[in-house]
Amino acid sequence: MQVLDFSFPPTAKRHCRVRVGHGALDALVEDLVLETPGTPLILVADSNVAAIHARPLLGRLRERGLSAELLQFPAGEASKTRQTKIMLEDALFRASVGRDAALIAVGGGVTGDLAGFVAATWQRGIPVVQVPTSLLSMVDAALGGKTAVNLGGAKNLVGSFHQPWGIYADVSTLTTLPDDEFREGFAEAIKTAVIGDAALFRWLEANAGPLLRRDTDALERLVLDCMSSKARVVKRDERETGRRAALNFGHTVAHALEMVSENLLSHGSAVAVGICVESRMARVTTGFPESSVGRIEALLDAFGLPIRIPGAYTDAAIVAATSHDKKVRAGNVHYALPLRIGRMPALPQLSRVVEEAVLREALHATR
Ligand SMILES: NC(=O)c1ccc[n+]([C@@H]2O[C@H](COP(=O)([O-])OP(=O)(O)OC[C@H]3O[C@@H](n4cnc5c(N)ncnc54)[C@H](O)[C@@H]3O)[C@@H](O)[C@H]2O)c1
Repeated sequence: MQVLDFSFPPTAKRHCRVRVGHGALDALVEDLVLETPGTPLILVADSNVAAIHARPLLGRLRERGLSAELLQFPAGEASKTRQTKIMLEDALFRASVGRDAALIAVGGGVTGDLAGFVAATWQRGIPVVQVPTSLLSMVDAALGGKTAVNLGGAKNLVGSFHQPWGIYADVSTLTTLPDDEFREGFAEAIKTAVIGDAALFRWLEANAGPLLRRDTDALERLVLDCMSSKARVVKRDERETGRRAALNFGHTVAHALEMVSENLLSHGSAVAVGICVESRMARVTTGFPESSVGRIEALLDAFGLPIRIPGAYTDAAIVAATSHDKKVRAGNVHYALPLRIGRMPALPQLSRVVEEAVLREALHATR
């Protein structure tokens, strides 16, 4: 097991402890016993993860004498709403959960975003521990402190920055993840490689086989590399006033696709297609090489991810949906587009307005 310590912001008194690998859940139990013995712990999990991972963890925490309860909500992106947040808050109220408590988000990115946001506002903020159990949340969502819910189908419109007390990513939990959910995680990993790590991109090209076979060492390395890469960005710009915008590559179009598909297209698949569209926009806007667009598509395809926009969604609907993006400023949609694989433009060119015609052309070419 590997341990990484990050502090966000760099001046923070307490580090966010990150443990990655087999045994990370054992380490979580030990850390909680040693460091937070009297803290009431509230585990939050969706209806899939509750039985397979959260309930066994609850049992282990109680065996060690800790006070722990489990709250559950229906699995799926459709639960990432203000309504589910209210349902969880009502449950915390009924259980008289006070400021001395901590939440433990056990699950994928939906659980992390939702429970993180509940923790950010409950009694003006209580600690949250992130226990990612999907590959997507291990390589991306669990780290960085962004928490949110969706509104009217638009992604992450209501939320907060709330850095976790710790992140415990036990790759052995991935053995129960269904194949299609497992593949989703590679979309965010490929994004991470494109925006800042050309060596990781080459390693992904060479290691699709072991990764898809869920080789433990390969997965552990992938999670560590992605977390380290993201942490470098977040350390420099926790609140997304500058460099952190790089993490949005592929996501403006992805969020629009999630919205028009009413979440039929999952986040990872939407990111995969969004990366293809925005790579083509980069070709026109930043001079991103045509051959790199091809390499990106080939890599997404090797991991079984979609590289074409499903026919049901029109260009007009997708273009309209981009106007709900959080990165809209003065009515203009901003995009973070790479210069080449592993390199983003320097500020202030990092986040730029792109003409609608360029988006339409790229959408057309990604059909
Ligand atoms: N906060 C951030 O920085 C950030 C970054 C990227 C994505 N996100 C968000 O993350 C979400 C997507 O995350 P996701 O793909 O993990 O979705 P998810 O949380 O819905 O999980 C996907 C599915 O896998 C199931 N699952 C998770 N772990 C499992 C396991 N070990 N065994 C069996 N089933 C398991 C879940 O129940 C769910 O059905 C989106 O809402 C996205 O906006 C947030």
